[in-house]
Amino acid sequence: MALDLSTPVRFLDLVATHEEIRAELDAIWDTTVSTAGFVGGAEVAAFEEEFAAYSGAARCIGVANGTDALELILEAAGFGPGDEIIVPANTFIATAEAVVRVGATPVFADVDPDTMLITGDHIRAAATPKTVAVMAVHLYGQMVDADDVSKACNDLGLAFVEDSAQAHGAKWNGATAGSVGLAAGFSFYPGKNLGALGDGGAVTTNDLALADKIWQISNHGRSVNSRYEHDLVGRNSRLDGLQGAALRIKLRRLNDWNARRRDVAGWYGQYLPDTLVPLSVRPEAEAVHHLGIVRCVGMTRDEASAKLDAAGIGWGIHYPIPCHLQKPFGGSAGEFEVSERLASEIISLPMHPHLSEADVERVAQTLAS
Ligand SMILES: Cc1ncc(COP(=O)(O)O)c(C=O)c1O
Repeated sequence: MALDLSTPVRFLDLVATHEEIRAELDAIWDTTVSTAGFVGGAEVAAFEEEFAAYSGAARCIGVANGTDALELILEAAGFGPGDEIIVPANTFIATAEAVVRVGATPVFADVDPDTMLITGDHIRAAATPKTVAVMAVHLYGQMVDADDVSKACNDLGLAFVEDSAQAHGAKWNGATAGSVGLAAGFSFYPGKNLGALGDGGAVTTNDLALADKIWQISNHGRSVNSRYEHDLVGRNSRLDGLQGAALRIKLRRLNDWNARRRDVAGWYGQYLPDTLVPLSVRPEAEAVHHLGIVRCVGMTRDEASAKLDAAGIGWGIHYPIPCHLQKPFGGSAGEFEVSERLASEIISLPMHPHLSEADVERVAQTLAS
């Protein structure tokens, strides 16, 4: 939802985030202009190295946005027409868009009612002989059960692709999002836990051949060894130098900002009335709480949102229409009971690193009143 500067408790506070690092951000303009490192260049190369290390992956390739990151992974892996790719019904539409963009067919699957994420059982139920991959979405900042999803993918011979757009720095049993599947797509849309100053994205992977192919496709099919030779028909999807420089500055703050989000989630758990149930986080997961998701159980979502509106508190819904019921996919109501119920119950409360305990108490008191 749009940022409202007059809202007393903001849903997202990008102004406060950027004020914290304002002097460093101001300096990158000078450096970028004076070195003319506008697309790719030294800052992007350094960011790619740092983000690969942060995510526990061998390679990182900066691209133009998170949707491209997912699409590039699928194209480089050779998936296309005739292939089915499993996508959770509870996700942002970009996950399914990437599948359609490579000519493959998204096959939706339901999610766990507590974590709201896809599991190995959902994958087994959705798989057919045409299935080639799973887009496992680490939604809301919590990783899927990577052991369970990996096992299902291995048993069925499917590629495990991570949609990590909402999970920068999240962990499962100590492994970081971006390091557990064939490859992962990240979004650096400004509101993400790690956000650029515009659109941006990246792929991380441990597969060096796949990394080269993704780099090639996103750079007009250019040969990795020769600047003027093009091995394949690619496209343009690159990360700007200014974004690389800004992302390097923010990456140094990411663990601190994620820890502050965990504090906020803890305060919600402490102060919210029983009528609102926070997203459940598994003990094996270290969540980074991209969104402050709660389920409205003892009051309707309309009642909750009316109270928040009256108090000038920001909120959102992620997502009110499950992906299979969006117009392009033509699914029918009743197909995925859990995702459809969640879509009618969930509300996203303010969540960002600059919320205080008093802010959270105020949100909770407003909802309890
Ligand atoms: C789960 C998920 N996947 C993919 C994307 C796509 O990222 P981008 O907006 O950078 O293309 C997003 C971003 O909103 C997302 O939340």
